[in-house]
Amino acid sequence: MRITVIGCGYLGTTHAAGMAELGYEVLGVEVSPTQLATLTEGRAPFYEPDLEPLLRRHVDSGALRFTDSYEEAGAFGDVHFLCVGTPQQAQGLGADLSQVEGSVRSLAPHLRDGALVVGKSTVPVGTAERLAEILAEDAPSARLGWNPEFLREGYAVQDTLHPDRLVFGVSEPSVESTLREVYAKVLAEDTPVVVTDFATAELVKVSANAFLATKISFINAVAEVCELTGADVVDLADALGHDNRIGRRFLNAGVGFGGGCLPKDVRAFQHRAGELGADHLMSLLRDVDAINTHRRESVVSQAREMLGTIAGSRVAVLGAAFKPDSDDIRDSPALWVAGQLHLAGAQVSVHDPQAMDNARKRFPTLGYVDSPVTACEDADLVLHLTEWPQFREIDPQELASVVRRRQVLDGRNVLDPARWRAAGWTFRGMGRR
Ligand code: UDX
Repeated sequence: MRITVIGCGYLGTTHAAGMAELGYEVLGVEVSPTQLATLTEGRAPFYEPDLEPLLRRHVDSGALRFTDSYEEAGAFGDVHFLCVGTPQQAQGLGADLSQVEGSVRSLAPHLRDGALVVGKSTVPVGTAERLAEILAEDAPSARLGWNPEFLREGYAVQDTLHPDRLVFGVSEPSVESTLREVYAKVLAEDTPVVVTDFATAELVKVSANAFLATKISFINAVAEVCELTGADVVDLADALGHDNRIGRRFLNAGVGFGGGCLPKDVRAFQHRAGELGADHLMSLLRDVDAINTHRRESVVSQAREMLGTIAGSRVAVLGAAFKPDSDDIRDSPALWVAGQLHLAGAQVSVHDPQAMDNARKRFPTLGYVDSPVTACEDADLVLHLTEWPQFREIDPQELASVVRRRQVLDGRNVLDPARWRAAGWTFRGMGRR
């Protein structure tokens, strides 16, 4: 079986390397010339632990190749995974489906008889039905399946090769059997599989992300109550988490969620729910999004309180990526806060272990330095906004000697307040005592 992966962004690159690791011959299709050149050399176009060695190994062996030609892909593949992006529309909350529809239209005329096209991109419910109609026009013998992807950045390789579950959205039994064949090695590890219809498969993905976002916004809303009452949200989350029905994961209160998935998926699901007249879900997700934005604003207003006046002050921002172990700055809470403080007149100095290049390109007016200690030189306030492990190792005693004022706000609730206070710092967390 030969496999193509259409769209080699985050998901597609990892999936292509994963499929090669499972033993297939794989052809990745990428239309961006710079991205294509990088991939062809066996390099990852972004930072993701464990990905580059995998990519390099399979590119070197010839099992994995890349092209920009849909014609070549159609002639090559038995199974074609659609991994193109579905960003938020420029005007509105809904998902922009132009890449998904465009790639199916480009591929369809070149498909071999009986080829299987498998959607992995995150799409609004109803999209697969429409793509099936597009396929039927240009490739009547082609089949469609929907197999959403749940990988997390930072664990993308692990999540691809050893997923928590597989979901197959199918409209005929032969699609299920081909997908079972493709994933035979993964299924042999007793990975649970749910076989269902297109609509349910599409909804599993957006519901999973909406649920995770709701969990984060729930604890962040409770953090506000903690702030008003003197309670401590970290102790509270620990206690909640001991209840197996609730679980401790995704209950970390702080500056809120960001990234290329959760924010846009919550908005797209909200938009789709509105279109369908599912008003309760629409308003629930609107609140989840509003709570998330509010936590970012809360960091800015707490910074204002701690500084007195923002204009003319110096602020160190530790973190730029939307989460640790990633260089992804899409919708990053850290950079949102840094940008607001800069606009209000602060001199902002940012450090991140991996995301500096991306941040510099996107926000060229912020200051960037190559160590956390340099970022803190003469600072009036230190903001800890992405919880890289190396920031936790900073010695507050040593840092005290470089700053102008010993003030720190932990936007991720992972620094040890007692240690910082013992070194003479004014320490604030998010929803902490
Ligand atoms: C997410 C989903 O987890 C994944 O299944 C899906 O395929 C893609 O979207 P990812 O974007 O890599 O993955 O990040 P995730 O680990 O979910 O974190 C998202 C955001 O939530 C980050 O900004 C993170 O800092 C924040 N977060 C996470 C919290 O604020 N609190 C938490 O308790 C957990």
